[in-house]
Amino acid sequence: MTTSLLFVCLGNICRSPLAEGVMRHMASPDLRIDSAGTGDWHSGDAPDSRAQAVAAARGYDISAQRARQVSADDFAHFDLILAMDARNLDDLRQNPAFPGRAHVAQFLPYAGLASPLDVPDPWYSGDFDGTLDLIETACARIAAQLQ
Ligand code: 4NP
Repeated sequence: MTTSLLFVCLGNICRSPLAEGVMRHMASPDLRIDSAGTGDWHSGDAPDSRAQAVAAARGYDISAQRARQVSADDFAHFDLILAMDARNLDDLRQNPAFPGRAHVAQFLPYAGLASPLDVPDPWYSGDFDGTLDLIETACARIAAQLQ
């Protein structure tokens, strides 16, 4: 049974905070949900203001989240770790603590979606609405799977 879920992206200020915020609305309150970044440049920062804005427009308040880097402990403490893109998954695989007790997979394929495989990074594309569309679709499928 999956009781804890960690979403991982690069900076932990755009994609994984959105996934955390959406999943908190869709999953059982008993599921422990967190997010982290493979990089540490934004540790301690709130989500990107554009991510906060698209989230708020759809009823998700992600303003209290703060970025942190993935730690070795995460592999010991989470049942499921979902990477937003293939590079994030590769980076997780390089961690000496990988995979620990966690099942580590890529987010969209884990949700059963075949195309695209990666959640495109809105930090570069600016398409925060499209990012949130994808994340909502995938989170709904995963929440249903975890019931
Ligand atoms: P995220 O987006 O991985 O979805 O949080 C990024 C945020 C910041 C940077 C890269 C990606 N950055 O290079 O600072």
